[in-house]
Amino acid sequence: MVEIIRTPETKLIQRLAEMETQAFEGGGLNEWTFVPFIRHGLVFCIRLQGEVVGVAEYMRDWEQPSIAYLIGISIDESHRGKNLGTTLLRDSMEELKRYNITNIELTVSPENHSAVAVYQRKLGFEVIEHRKNEYGDGKDRLAMSIIL
Ligand SMILES: CC(C)(COP(=O)(O)OP(=O)(O)OC[C@H]1O[C@@H](n2cnc3c(N)ncnc32)[C@H](O)[C@@H]1OP(=O)(O)O)[C@@H](O)C(=O)NCCC(=O)NCCS
Repeated sequence: MVEIIRTPETKLIQRLAEMETQAFEGGGLNEWTFVPFIRHGLVFCIRLQGEVVGVAEYMRDWEQPSIAYLIGISIDESHRGKNLGTTLLRDSMEELKRYNITNIELTVSPENHSAVAVYQRKLGFEVIEHRKNEYGDGKDRLAMSIIL
């Protein structure tokens, strides 16, 4: 169900970009940024009966190459709450171990309760820092980490 996307095919990228726009409006990856992330980062998708219903992107930390940073995860609106986000993260994190990744880090808005539930309660991430105004005035982020 969870797989790494190896080649940037236009139709697939359009589908991924559509889910990112649903989830983050202008703040997600798009048709341009998916291409380098597929070629040089790691992009995972999850399918349901063949249809792509979720995407998660990681980059390796330049200073600490055993750390992978979760850039984002989005599940198609109509498929949220079905454990797909948790499955996508759990399976992708398992796969990252094969690339000698030992820790995953991410940031999330403290108000994004479903994402916080997935990271903290369902997967066991711990808050390592509360970053005030990280994305501009009033836009705080919780930095979280997990040891694989
Ligand atoms: C965050 C996201 C990826 C989660 O994916 P998902 O497939 O819906 O997640 P899951 O179904 O695995 O788990 C969601 C959990 O959140 C819980 N939840 C939902 N709303 C909640 C709320 N307001 N408060 C607390 N928990 C909540 C659900 O009960 C569920 O837990 P459960 O399975 O124990 O019942 C998805 O909602 C999404 O794409 N959101 C938009 C993009 C986004 O915010 N990405 C994260 C950015 S850092």
